Amino acid sequence: MNHLVLKPCFIALLLFLLAPLIPSLTGARTTLKENEPCKRMVLYYHDVLFNGTDAANATSVIIANHSAISNFEFGMMVVFDDPMTEDSRLLSPAVARAQGFYFYDKKDNYNAWFAYTLVFNSSEYKGTINIMGADPFLEKTRDLSIVGGTGDFFMTRGIVTFQTDELQGDFYFRLKMDIKLYECYKK
Ligand SMILES: *[C@@H]1O[C@H](CO)[C@@H](O)[C@H](O)[C@H]1NC(C)=O
Ligand SMILES: *[C@@H]1O[C@H](CO)[C@@H](O)[C@H](O)[C@H]1NC(C)=O
Ligand SMILES: *[C@@H]1O[C@H](CO)[C@@H](O)[C@H](O)[C@H]1NC(C)=O
Ligand SMILES: *[C@@H]1O[C@H](CO)[C@@H](O)[C@H](O)[C@H]1NC(C)=O
Repeated sequence: MNHLVLKPCFIALLLFLLAPLIPSLTGARTTLKENEPCKRMVLYYHDVLFNGTDAANATSVIIANHSAISNFEFGMMVVFDDPMTEDSRLLSPAVARAQGFYFYDKKDNYNAWFAYTLVFNSSEYKGTINIMGADPFLEKTRDLSIVGGTGDFFMTRGIVTFQTDELQGDFYFRLKMDIKLYECYKK
């Protein structure tokens, strides 16, 4: 009889002890403010596409040509190991490398899809930031997802805003990348 009476008390006690966990169990969390990242960096990405003869200078190469089913480079894939600089000059010292690929994946207009790692190995930062998403590059700005990180960017997440900064023929373009992190676990 005694333990039957105690039962509701136990449940109440359990609920009391678990209460702090309940918001995280139900997925409720503090609201993230888009204009208040915990860390922000603006870097420039330089893509120098191999033109058939400039192997020493090029940092990216077409590894699969476009297909015949569309006029928008559909199917073309480019692998890159591109320098990231703090200002827009190609010859400024690289503070990181952008290593990954993009391909064209829209049949009735231009659209690229990026997946790459920003590799930092400087006195300021060591670690990686991993980025992926669609780049409908005819738009003035495009947002891609930061899906994770390592080292100084341990478990980060955020948004990178792309803006085309320069386009020179078929063999060079530059993107301004506004990197906004909303989860920062390392100081
Ligand atoms: C490739 O680029 C290099 C360096 O910019 C240039 O000297 C060369 O003429 C170019 N080759 C072709 C085939 O466009
Ligand atoms: C891709 O195909 C076009 C013709 O559709 C050709 O002119 C071009 O040289 C090819 N590029 C490469 C890198 O194979
Ligand atoms: C980072 O730089 C150091 C010193 O230049 C080098 O020994 C190391 O291999 C580099 N690490 C990576 C992942 O590139
Ligand atoms: C390397 O490529 C860039 C972008 O196309 C060009 O401006 C520069 O002149 C090239 N440098 C050399 C040494 O070919």
